[in-house]
Amino acid sequence: MEASTETNNKFSEEEQVVTPWEVAGNGGKIDYDKLIDRFGCQRIDQSLVQRVEKLTSQPAHVFLRRNVFFAHRDFAEILDAYEKGENFYLYTGRGPSSEALHLGHLIPFMFTKYLQEAFKVPLVIQLTDDEKFLWKNLTIEESRRLARENAKDIIACGFDVSKTFIFSDFDYVGGAFYRNMVQIGKRVTYNQVVGIFGFIGEDHIGKVSFPPVQAAPSFPSSFPHLFEGKGNLRCLIPCAIDQDPYFRMTRDVAPKIGYNKPALIESSFFPALQGETGKMSASDPNSAIYVTDSAKDIKNKVNRYAFSGGQDSIEKHRQLGANLEVDIPIKYLSFFLEDDAELEHIKKEYGAGRMLTGEVKQRLIQVLTEIVERHRTARANVTEKMVDAFMAVRPLPHMFD
Ligand code: TYM
Ligand code: TRP
Repeated sequence: MEASTETNNKFSEEEQVVTPWEVAGNGGKIDYDKLIDRFGCQRIDQSLVQRVEKLTSQPAHVFLRRNVFFAHRDFAEILDAYEKGENFYLYTGRGPSSEALHLGHLIPFMFTKYLQEAFKVPLVIQLTDDEKFLWKNLTIEESRRLARENAKDIIACGFDVSKTFIFSDFDYVGGAFYRNMVQIGKRVTYNQVVGIFGFIGEDHIGKVSFPPVQAAPSFPSSFPHLFEGKGNLRCLIPCAIDQDPYFRMTRDVAPKIGYNKPALIESSFFPALQGETGKMSASDPNSAIYVTDSAKDIKNKVNRYAFSGGQDSIEKHRQLGANLEVDIPIKYLSFFLEDDAELEHIKKEYGAGRMLTGEVKQRLIQVLTEIVERHRTARANVTEKMVDAFMAVRPLPHMFD
């Protein structure tokens, strides 16, 4: 069941807001159940996770096991087709608005890397430098530079160059890609984009005309050097649920222009250190852990800012235990501590008051420092030549091997 494009997902003032530009629980936690109903996507349940494990002959990624990726559209259809020997391709992206990525940004890329490996499928990654020029106070040159810098962080996640095409909109848009953009644009009315994205009369038309750019990579014919003669190849898009509005629009248009609807697999947000009312955002440095943070930065930020569900005094804590529902260190560990048994142990001990906030934070600092250090080393090894290789417009002869 598709939410109609008339649906306005910009909620009333008292309610939570989730758009590609704003994520706010408005004082409370984001209610993901409500979002699923509001957007009209489907829930990911254990049986779907088990199907993935069976089809890929390996344990599911932690993000799938722990429901970080919690919603989908037509993911089951992708699996049905894959089971019958039909292939698909992956599409994801990044809006290069800042020099350094934070941990929240890495989530879809880490997960996409797992999907690429597990299913052995090609991947296209869109760097929307045009989008950031339109929305932010950046020059074209600066957006293009950031796109290339961000590409290095993305490559550092471990993608396979023989199966991955990374492109910048400023460089790649044209030809078949542009023809698809125009086809898409012709099937969406101004009233519809106002309904979906909440554009207002004062917005410049650069913004209004952008959505087809993000929609076009959902169709294989936008990449003739990769998918010539494969017009029916299915597309699966991993992203956080803030990007859903774009792809609701895309799915609405697809049948009208004779294309398959892209499928989606969507994650919740990695929250800010201060608590679960929004997503980790690059605009407040103290709300986020960056991939460029030093071990000392991480230690300070976690100790100082990570919202704790522990009690005010040790006596009270021993007696009542921590409130795990609001505790950020526990939340972060549930994203990044891979050992299920250890996570359960920490939750039990901390919840019962036998473990203190300081001890849990200590473990979190170790886990995050390790991830950030690993990323830093991998990124330092990404050369300009490698960036050129990933971004070259070229066929990928072994993309399904
Ligand atoms: P951008 O650059 O804002 O975000 C890049 C990707 O990271 C996800 N994300 C998060 N995930 C978890 N926790 C967070 N705190 C968090 N913050 C951001 C985003 O959902 C996204 O998947 N317009 C897009 C670029 C784009 C794109 C795409 C994204 C173009 N095509 C296709 C996904 C799929 C953007 O500005 O993303
Ligand atoms: N989240 C982005 C930001 O930091 C904005 C954004 C995400 C966006 N997806 C988008 C803007 C798509 C325009 C179109 O502001």
